[in-house]
Amino acid sequence: MTSEWDAATYDRISDPMARWGEKVLERLPLEGDERVMDAGCGTGRVTALLAERLPDGTVIAVDRSRGMIEQARANLAGNPRVRFLVADLGQPLQVGDPVDAVFSNATFHWVLDHDALFANLAAVMRPGARLVAQCGAAGNVANVMRAARQAGDDWEGAVHFATVDETCGRTRSPRPSSPASRSRPSSPPSSCARTSPACLRANGPPSCTTSPRACPSPSSNTSG
Ligand SMILES: C[S@@+](CC[C@H](N)C(=O)[O-])C[C@H]1O[C@@H](n2cnc3c(N)ncnc32)[C@H](O)[C@@H]1O
Repeated sequence: MTSEWDAATYDRISDPMARWGEKVLERLPLEGDERVMDAGCGTGRVTALLAERLPDGTVIAVDRSRGMIEQARANLAGNPRVRFLVADLGQPLQVGDPVDAVFSNATFHWVLDHDALFANLAAVMRPGARLVAQCGAAGNVANVMRAARQAGDDWEGAVHFATVDETCGRTRSPRPSSPASRSRPSSPPSSCARTSPACLRANGPPSCTTSPRACPSPSSNTSG
């Protein structure tokens, strides 16, 4: 499977993704001096909005497609706060110092191995770092797939639409091993299943305590 995207076309037609990205970005509290990774930055349209919120910080814009990174570099030309990296989120990442947050829009469903994806992200996040993301989940574009199948097209797509529970399981922080915590049950709070999982703290408190209202589930029929 090719990792290349048609960057010029994507840049032209990605208004919907840029709009979703803007909304997702609103969920990421920032002081302005953090180091934040944009995981799957595409042509950098949302990366530019992220960079605006980091006047004294740094954005590490990561994408597997060289064409997307080149277009992002051109779109963000002259912004000294953005560093670009061609890298696969399914492989260990080399980003230098740990990041304070990971932001991602319309990307995770394109990464097939989610165990590797979240492990790789966690490995570059400092303790307490935030992950705020939007992606296609189980049931996404199901109507489109069904219609395509009825029309004789059996393409299932090289995408991974995980369920909320699966992602909660993957992103849950290990519980501290104090005697008090060992005596507590290890199952997540009941809000887990209703909580959009990709709005979590790495190595921080249990992820599923995130308020569902503060972190709404992604739209069910769009992915990007
Ligand atoms: C729909 S675009 C979203 C781009 C951008 N975040 C936006 O909101 O416009 C998905 C992006 O994910 C990137 N991508 C897909 N799989 C990837 C992977 N395994 N590692 C890194 N980037 C990946 C693609 O190259 C593409 O740029």
